[in-house]
Amino acid sequence: MNKKILITGASGHLGGMLFRFLANLGYKKLIGTDLKKKNIKKNQKVILANLKNLKATTKITKGIYAIVHFGAIPIEDTQANILQNNIIGTYNLFEAARINKVKRVIFASSNHAIGFHRRKKKLNHFSNQRPDSHYGLSKAFGEELSRFYADKFNIKSMCIRIGTCLRTPEDRRHLSTWISYRDLAQLVDIGIKHKSIHHEIVYGASKNKRSWWNNSRAYQLGYKPRDSADRFDIHLLSKSEHKDKTALLFQGGVFTSANFKGDIKSIK
Ligand SMILES: NC(=O)c1ccc[n+]([C@@H]2O[C@H](COP(=O)([O-])OP(=O)(O)OC[C@H]3O[C@@H](n4cnc5c(N)ncnc54)[C@H](O)[C@@H]3O)[C@@H](O)[C@H]2O)c1
Repeated sequence: MNKKILITGASGHLGGMLFRFLANLGYKKLIGTDLKKKNIKKNQKVILANLKNLKATTKITKGIYAIVHFGAIPIEDTQANILQNNIIGTYNLFEAARINKVKRVIFASSNHAIGFHRRKKKLNHFSNQRPDSHYGLSKAFGEELSRFYADKFNIKSMCIRIGTCLRTPEDRRHLSTWISYRDLAQLVDIGIKHKSIHHEIVYGASKNKRSWWNNSRAYQLGYKPRDSADRFDIHLLSKSEHKDKTALLFQGGVFTSANFKGDIKSIK
């Protein structure tokens, strides 16, 4: 791939990983951006910019074909911080993409956009959003924002509802939500290259037997996960599981139980 691809959050855990994995998949013109330069290799081009700033964001997206948008606060935070970095940051990114005629955006959404669904419910790409936190709400906003920019301005997008992307699963919940690095990189690659995407919702999960998600749309687009959480030891992982009742009922786990003042019975 010889077109210019911009990765936001390039100094972060997943942005940095994608920088390496996409280069290995043959992407020759990768550019990263972040607030800071951390863990950057000599051959990687990273431009500093704050997504809160539309002018700076417009500048870094000039001449870009596709944006892999992973720059955000990746956990729960104050409403003000989430609003500025995740909601306004993502708004600025899409607006800059429109101004600069960027063709595609791959958006790092999250299972926390759907976290208040019960674990026993199997979801698919048509399932309602059900955010479990200010953070999850910012991801739900990003999904709808990208749908709007696809319908209105023909900026193609793929929202990946990432479960848990770590080297290995770390607790029992991850046996349902885990995705390996190379499987996530494969989904991003599909998002950049697939000819007939418009606005897609897919689940960022490996081939896990205990998954709560029917990921058929990703499979239709050619996703062939190479990894699975099934080979990890459930007994070992159960030891580090958060045991509170609310967290165990809902897909978002401890994001649902933090500061919870709701009525569990009403959340069907
Ligand atoms: N790690 C996971 O399992 C997981 C699961 C679901 C979703 N995600 C999403 O994937 C993305 C990356 O997650 P991560 O685990 O690599 O997090 P991370 O914190 O390691 O990386 C995020 C990067 O975004 C940058 N950033 C934050 N605000 C910014 C701003 N205003 N302007 C420019 N850059 C900014 C940070 O400096 C950081 O380097 C996030 O959007 C996160 O919500 C991650």
